[in-house]
Amino acid sequence: MSDNAQNSPQNVHEVGLRPTGEFTTDQNAKPVASDAHSLTSGGPDGVIALHDSYVVEKLAAFDRERIPERVVHAKGGGAFGELEITEDVSQYTRAAVFQKGTKTPMLARFSTVAGEQGSPDTWRDPRGFSLKFYTTEGNLDIVGNNTPIFFVRDGIKFPDFIHSQKRLPGSGLRDNTMQWDFWTQSPESAHQVTYLMGERGIPKSWRHMNGYGSHTFQWVNDSGERFWVKYHFISEQGVEGLSGEEAARIAGEDADAHRRDLHDSIERGEFPSWSVEVQVIPYEDAKTYKYNIFDVTKTVPKGDYPRMKIGRFTLNQNPLNFFAQIEQAAFSPGNTVPGHEISPDKMLMTRVFSYPDTHRHRLGANFADLPVNFPHYAEQNSYSQDGPMRYSFKAPSQPNYAPNTMGGPVAGQGIKPADEMRWETDGEMVRAAATLHSADDDFGQPGILYSEVMNAEQQQVLVDNIAGHVGDVQDNTILERALQYWDNVHPELGQRVRKAVEENRGADAKNV
Ligand code: HEM
Repeated sequence: MSDNAQNSPQNVHEVGLRPTGEFTTDQNAKPVASDAHSLTSGGPDGVIALHDSYVVEKLAAFDRERIPERVVHAKGGGAFGELEITEDVSQYTRAAVFQKGTKTPMLARFSTVAGEQGSPDTWRDPRGFSLKFYTTEGNLDIVGNNTPIFFVRDGIKFPDFIHSQKRLPGSGLRDNTMQWDFWTQSPESAHQVTYLMGERGIPKSWRHMNGYGSHTFQWVNDSGERFWVKYHFISEQGVEGLSGEEAARIAGEDADAHRRDLHDSIERGEFPSWSVEVQVIPYEDAKTYKYNIFDVTKTVPKGDYPRMKIGRFTLNQNPLNFFAQIEQAAFSPGNTVPGHEISPDKMLMTRVFSYPDTHRHRLGANFADLPVNFPHYAEQNSYSQDGPMRYSFKAPSQPNYAPNTMGGPVAGQGIKPADEMRWETDGEMVRAAATLHSADDDFGQPGILYSEVMNAEQQQVLVDNIAGHVGDVQDNTILERALQYWDNVHPELGQRVRKAVEENRGADAKNV
């Protein structure tokens, strides 16, 4: 952390911590008489007095303890830690956080996607992998998953996709039929579904999974040169998964198994760590590369653009208060810093809108004022003001409008023109799929994942998991479409899935 950091708390995870005294008070610090007996008029059996402000305050506070859960990624957990950059990548990015030797306090939150608060940690689902770096240039959030790709490539499809993964509106039940109905009509999902059904579909713990920025981002160096970058966070504990049977057993025994594992390992002093690696793609290459690198359903093979290790991060402090520091944490891919920007990925661009929008709904207009979200190590000089629960403010001598001649902060200072995200577009305003590059299709990369990346054992796990999941589809047309989907990924995989589904159905019929 640089010496000139502003407003720096000693330790970001202790901001908001208040001392505890010997006697109980109300929220206004007045000592209270009892936590067992309300004030009653007419003796011990009388009616409760409305002017017992303590019982009123206590119940009213309790009645309001819940806030809306996250619409996705509701079940999760997290911890604080530190990022350290060990390599010189200043030729690619000017971001202070990525300069060699820089150490930056951070928060990580891991989650499942479709499950609600309280749902089991070991359901098959991608895992969220959210990182917030409290940098000297403002907070940088990288809000990715434990998979390098995603199910759809245009944000307009995201609400439909999530509806299909959550619950039927009528029965309130989850439903494999609607999942396959959506997936098979969105063939771009094949790559992510292949990952999901494979052995990485259920991690052994959050410590045993990699994280990915998933999208392509833009890096800008001091001279204004631009590069495309993909982030990989490689688990130093190793990558391990659970079988469907193990996961189901753990779900029954301990729905919080992953939250507990992270918490307990940090308490034991076993601090999980991840190696931070990047693929840097020269700016011009994106135009002619065989894949459209702004399509989040695609990976960029490391044979073409190798992964470079630039540092590591370690999680070493549990939250002191889960609600204040994890539940109220507000991540957004739009929280960028000079030198790290977004890219023309249609999912990413819609996400930049959606996250602060949902935070305003879930946490309130001043969510960024909460200690866990505040940019503690940079100076925040915003003209935004007021609103519910506003906590911080500027000195009365400071003007609250721009432009002003009163010495207030000036936009355009402290930023180079090159710091603004930039790329060229050419063409009319249209509603159309993103440009296909020479090797772009929906099934090529998942086919390679099956046939060239997975070994025989992993292929078998994939076939069994798909067959188990598809086998619950109640509609024969959708079932046939699902089988064709796997034929398209790889003909051999399609045949094996078909055979396994038939065998499972035969066995079920015999058992009836
Ligand atoms: C959480 C929207 C795509 C990863 C969320 C939340 C929303 C949302 C509304 C809840 C945030 C909160 O209440 O704090 C969207 C939209 C998407 C999209 C509209 C598509 C346009 C993605 C993709 C990824 C992703 C592609 C990963 C590659 C996450 C993660 C969280 C999250 C990790 C949990 C954040 C946390 O830990 O608090 N998303 N999402 N999302 N999303 Fe997305």
